[in-house]
Amino acid sequence: MGLLTGKVAVITGSGGGIGRAYALLFAKEGAKVVVNDVGGARDGSGADTSAAAKVVEEIKAAGGEAVASTDSVATSNGAANLIQVGVQAFGRVDVLVNNAGILRDKTFLKMDEEMWSSVLAVHLTGAFLCSQQFVKQVLAQKAAGAGEGGRIVNTTSVSGMLGNFGQANYAAAKAGVYGLTRTLSIELQKQKITVNAVAPIAKTRMTEDLPMFHGVDSLTPDHIAPAALFLASDLCGDRTGHVLAVMGARMYAFKVIETAGKFKDGDDTVWTAQEIADNWDAIAKG
Ligand code: NAI
Repeated sequence: MGLLTGKVAVITGSGGGIGRAYALLFAKEGAKVVVNDVGGARDGSGADTSAAAKVVEEIKAAGGEAVASTDSVATSNGAANLIQVGVQAFGRVDVLVNNAGILRDKTFLKMDEEMWSSVLAVHLTGAFLCSQQFVKQVLAQKAAGAGEGGRIVNTTSVSGMLGNFGQANYAAAKAGVYGLTRTLSIELQKQKITVNAVAPIAKTRMTEDLPMFHGVDSLTPDHIAPAALFLASDLCGDRTGHVLAVMGARMYAFKVIETAGKFKDGDDTVWTAQEIADNWDAIAKG
């Protein structure tokens, strides 16, 4: 028996790159998979229905079950539809992986509003819309006596957690995905829906022209897939709100830390700006 036997998994952006590796591994582990992908270019332009269809064929050729969706995650209709594709084909949904993404890098002053909003729309609004449709369906299944709970796996990035030159739009979107993950992990605990995120580093069409990937073939989507599988399977237990990061053989986690800080002495508890400057190390370090 596989780790996802009997589960239906919707994986956005799984017509290529990391999402494709997720789809193949999830299917191998027994999941029925909705392979969602608009099949556009790296910058989000264009569309090609064959991207999702090809991965569906690969899964079927290996003896698995899958269905294609070419809906865009970035519209409410698309998000509603891609969840319904799973319901219509397989009767339910259990796992949602928000993985679809585009890249429109530019230094800050050269970044126009369209570059900003298109990247936010796919990564952040897409994760919001698809998660909302997924949760509605999971709750409908519970109301119908068809079992409870579910798993959402989001996708953030080092850029979102730490910032990166030339990626104001992408970093803001991925930091937003972190905030969404944390908040949904709190809100959906009662519904037994875990919400975690993967922060991958792998050579795909999104990253292949970065200098760090030149001549490097050891950082593959196949290294990332087990992290998403873990977060999507029963092995994850009730862990929720985590960011699991993967780069090749390195598996680690991102956390936001709060310093111990410093309480102001005496009766006057209002800090002055000068006192903040004078006590910076005690406040912000450690
Ligand atoms: P990729 O470009 O190979 O895959 C992204 C997929 O999303 C594409 O197949 C694309 O057609 C699809 N897509 C784009 N817009 C869509 C939309 N509106 N609706 C449905 N599908 C859509 O890139 P990669 O590297 O596989 O990226 C997967 C995820 O991992 C993305 O969220 C990316 O931001 C994230 N990531 C990747 C890193 C890496 O090192 N490759 C680093 C950090 C994060």
